Amino acid sequence: MTRWLVTGSAGMLGQDLVAVLDQAGHEVTPAPRSALDVTDLPACRVAVRGHDVVVNAAAWTAVDDAETGEAQAFAVNATGAANVARACAEAGAQLVQVSTDYVFAGDARSPYDESAAQAPRSAYGRTKAAGEWAVTALCPRSWVVRTAWLYGSGGPNFVSTMARLAAERETLEVVDDQRGQPTWTVDVARAVERLVTGSAPYGAYHATSAGETTWYGLAREVFAGLGLDPDRVRPTTTAAFPRPARRPAYSVLGHEAWQRAGLAPLRDWRPALAEALPSMVPSR
Ligand SMILES: NC(=O)c1ccc[n+]([C@@H]2O[C@H](COP(=O)([O-])OP(=O)(O)OC[C@H]3O[C@@H](n4cnc5c(N)ncnc54)[C@H](OP(=O)(O)O)[C@@H]3O)[C@@H](O)[C@H]2O)c1
Repeated sequence: MTRWLVTGSAGMLGQDLVAVLDQAGHEVTPAPRSALDVTDLPACRVAVRGHDVVVNAAAWTAVDDAETGEAQAFAVNATGAANVARACAEAGAQLVQVSTDYVFAGDARSPYDESAAQAPRSAYGRTKAAGEWAVTALCPRSWVVRTAWLYGSGGPNFVSTMARLAAERETLEVVDDQRGQPTWTVDVARAVERLVTGSAPYGAYHATSAGETTWYGLAREVFAGLGLDPDRVRPTTTAAFPRPARRPAYSVLGHEAWQRAGLAPLRDWRPALAEALPSMVPSR
């Protein structure tokens, strides 16, 4: 039986990774931050020992705070990833490093393929790109799995925020000039399991839903899925909502590596959202 370790296991993705791997019959050790701080190399070495596969879902994910706290973000997203990678290489474990669309510039007009040039435009993106580089350099038996626009029942996210605001406000303005692929954490967790058990070649993969939309399009779909009038959502622009960290305007990722590996990529974002919504709004 494959023995898995999930770092950052109390996070939004980490929780679903543990649940999905457990349901698939794997032996899983959850390592929340309280049990394993990835900035501590000796602790990483102890935690990784005895495991065949490690999924590093630990990260500094406060994108705006990273603009003024890049050193702290770097400590987790780059040095922490390097520590986990070093520990995996020493223990002979395989590593799945979870990464992000923010490693790309976000100004393309067609989907970024897995080998597209990285040009992060935010502090968070720079630290995650450094983490990818460290993992690939230190642990050759590794996969970098980039995901984006995540939502899940285990943490705050855009979908749960829209569901909450729908109950509080009559109308909502949502940006309509950023494109991406809304992705359910459960689908990412299942994809990670497929990747590893399918013995896919090591390298970069994009674990985002098929299809694409804007935040406005996603908000409308959330309203419709909750049986509410989607016209209560109004389109606006990024310029109207300035944030400390620059957001990618175009974050659509291609999925060719899945096909080359003979594995199924993720499904379209709409049926995934329809399946996820009941678990995102538990009171309904
Ligand atoms: N959310 C998205 O839309 C999105 C998009 C693209 C990629 N990703 C990537 O997906 C992965 C999972 O993100 P998520 O959305 O699940 O974020 P999350 O909910 O913030 O989970 C990250 C987890 O890492 C933990 N952590 C922080 N510093 C740590 C440390 N030094 N040692 C160990 N654990 C630490 C956090 O603990 P505390 O809460 O206690 O700090 C948290 O439980 C990350 O690699 C992220 O970059 C996310």
